Amino acid sequence: MAEIAVVGAGYVGLTSGACFSHLGHHVVCIDNVESKIETLSRGQVSIVEEGLEGLVQAGISRNTLRFTSDTQAGVSSADYVFLCLPTPDLPNGSVDMSYVDAVAKQIGPWLRPGTVVVNKSTVPVGTTRHVAQLLGRDDVSVVSNPEFLREGNAVADFLNPSRVVIGGDDAAAVERVAKLYDGTNSPVIRCDATSAETIKYAANAYLATKISFINSIANICEHLGADVRVVADAIGRDPRIGGQFLQPGPGFGGSCFPKDTIGLLRLAGDAGYDFGVLRSVIEANDQQLARTVSKVRDAVGGSLRGVAIAVWGLTFKANTDDRRHSPAVEVVRRLVAEGARVTAFDPTVSGVVPELPSVGVAANAIEACRGAEALVVLTEWREFAIVPPASVREVMAGAAVMDARNLLDPGLWRSVGFVYQGVGFRPQ
Ligand code: UDX
Ligand code: UDX
Repeated sequence: MAEIAVVGAGYVGLTSGACFSHLGHHVVCIDNVESKIETLSRGQVSIVEEGLEGLVQAGISRNTLRFTSDTQAGVSSADYVFLCLPTPDLPNGSVDMSYVDAVAKQIGPWLRPGTVVVNKSTVPVGTTRHVAQLLGRDDVSVVSNPEFLREGNAVADFLNPSRVVIGGDDAAAVERVAKLYDGTNSPVIRCDATSAETIKYAANAYLATKISFINSIANICEHLGADVRVVADAIGRDPRIGGQFLQPGPGFGGSCFPKDTIGLLRLAGDAGYDFGVLRSVIEANDQQLARTVSKVRDAVGGSLRGVAIAVWGLTFKANTDDRRHSPAVEVVRRLVAEGARVTAFDPTVSGVVPELPSVGVAANAIEACRGAEALVVLTEWREFAIVPPASVREVMAGAAVMDARNLLDPGLWRSVGFVYQGVGFRPQ
């Protein structure tokens, strides 16, 4: 049982803290947003994440999990300090390290001798040494322990990782951090800090490459008259390829893939290597967003000006409330820019969407379709797949459906008169 402090109680920090408390450690989660600390201290979790609120409440009632905005109090009683701070991308593609730098400088003097500082945020290669310099302590170690959890599946991914990666120059510190994961029965990869930091980028870049690849294959299938669903299934059965992350769609989004692909492209460039493959992955993703918009435009006769469009889904994927770099938001932004009048429904959204001020938000999926010429499905929420198409047909003015997630049953929707379009196949 270790004393763990987690700085930054966001998607990664809160999940890590609650799971470490679940594994039997004593955890204090620190965040500089007082209101977040107040609600978390009451066991209320504002983000949509399966199982997380239950873990937080269990940790609080077991007295193995607490929350504070007093960073000094939190870190000065810890053996391990996990940094789970935002590292957003800057306009030039580089990574904003201001939060990590500020916290590292701040906590340096407060740490107990022998503390291990663990970087869990996605950070440029070389950050482990950089943070060690900012701490200015030779009796404190720094290691890199990148996180691979998926939003919407974070608790399960943390407690059942396919591997735990820990990188650092201090082997003893690496070993101590490895022991924190004993309860996960996961293989631990011990390596140097630079490799660990590179593993995080490489993993995200590879998954993004797989998505841009299947989106490109989907587009080819539309031209050739093949069916990407069959193609993806068949190639995915080859264990060298694997069936996961072969779901075509409107393009990848979220707080990680867009930022980390651009970040790695830039890191490689700064290191003198032109990562052409990754550049194409990023370009293909932008083209996929544009292709989704053009399919909608074609479906309503070639112009979106003044056309009423219904949209299902605004989050970057299902089972999360996160809209950061959401492909759905970007597609809607582009539809509005071409003059469309958009009404959207998303189970996690109510009221005005700050990043889409002119978009109406409906109370349910059918209401969003009232008077619309076309329906566009942008996020794969399961509840959309069970909406009776006849009820949608009754309220819509037009009959066009652009299912950018291949979520709906084409035959069923066509049986009530819809002109259905998916991604990567021609409806029979
Ligand atoms: C984190 C990492 O930031 C990102 O690099 C990685 O790619 C994914 O994991 P996430 O947990 O999703 O991202 O970030 P976010 O949900 O924004 O949480 C960060 C938390 O840190 C927020 O609660 C914020 O209030 C807090 N914070 C931010 C601090 O406590 N102190 C600060 O100085 C800045
Ligand atoms: C990702 C990585 O999966 C995770 O390991 C890492 O720690 C953080 O970044 P996350 O951003 O939560 O996780 O989302 P993910 O499930 O990977 O999806 C990313 C984007 O790709 C979403 O927009 C999703 O809709 C899209 N996607 C995913 C596809 O379009 N097709 C797929 O087959 C899979």
